[in-house]
Amino acid sequence: MTTSNSPNIRLSLTPLFSAEAIAARVKALATQIDSDYNGREILMVAVLKGSFLFIADLVRAVKTPTVIDFVRLASYGSATQSSGIIEVRKDLEMSVKDKHVLVVEDIVDSGLTLESLRNMLLNRQPASLRICTLIDKQAQRITNVPVDYIGFSMDDGFIVGYGLDLDERYRDLPDIRVVEGA
Ligand code: IMP
Ligand code: MG
Repeated sequence: MTTSNSPNIRLSLTPLFSAEAIAARVKALATQIDSDYNGREILMVAVLKGSFLFIADLVRAVKTPTVIDFVRLASYGSATQSSGIIEVRKDLEMSVKDKHVLVVEDIVDSGLTLESLRNMLLNRQPASLRICTLIDKQAQRITNVPVDYIGFSMDDGFIVGYGLDLDERYRDLPDIRVVEGA
């Protein structure tokens, strides 16, 4: 069975990752982050829009002092496939120089978005740079961008919910579902 609010899109009725499973992983990631940063202030950089719920939950779970900034990137391509051409739509407002930067992503697919953001941030000379993603989608990876913290791994397929969209829809779902036939 499926749910739908558009004639051509069907979502799995059973979540791939339930709200409870997400909450548990966020807590575990926060524990790992607290232990690694050991009290050093973190500058979390959320990649908009997809990571807005993830960072909101993550900053509240992490006990380490944290400041937050946002970057908005756009990759040209179809709704479900990245082209590799990344544009910075909204840059950071804070300087990352000498800061311990943790990039917070919703999902790493080809890795092209993250690789381009990583290079941009490394040029600005942070004290350290790590990457945290809620979802690691490995099947389409064409870069070897290092990911330090991973919530969940999956193979292929297009997912929505908990911030992740299909043409801007379904970001508001509290859990993550598979788009069937994508
Ligand atoms: P990459 O540059 O191919 O790694 O693409 C990463 C971006 O593509 C993510 O930040 C998402 O915005 C989007 N994306 C990739 N896979 C999915 C998916 O399954 N659901 C929703 N968005 C996705
Ligand atoms: Mg997106």
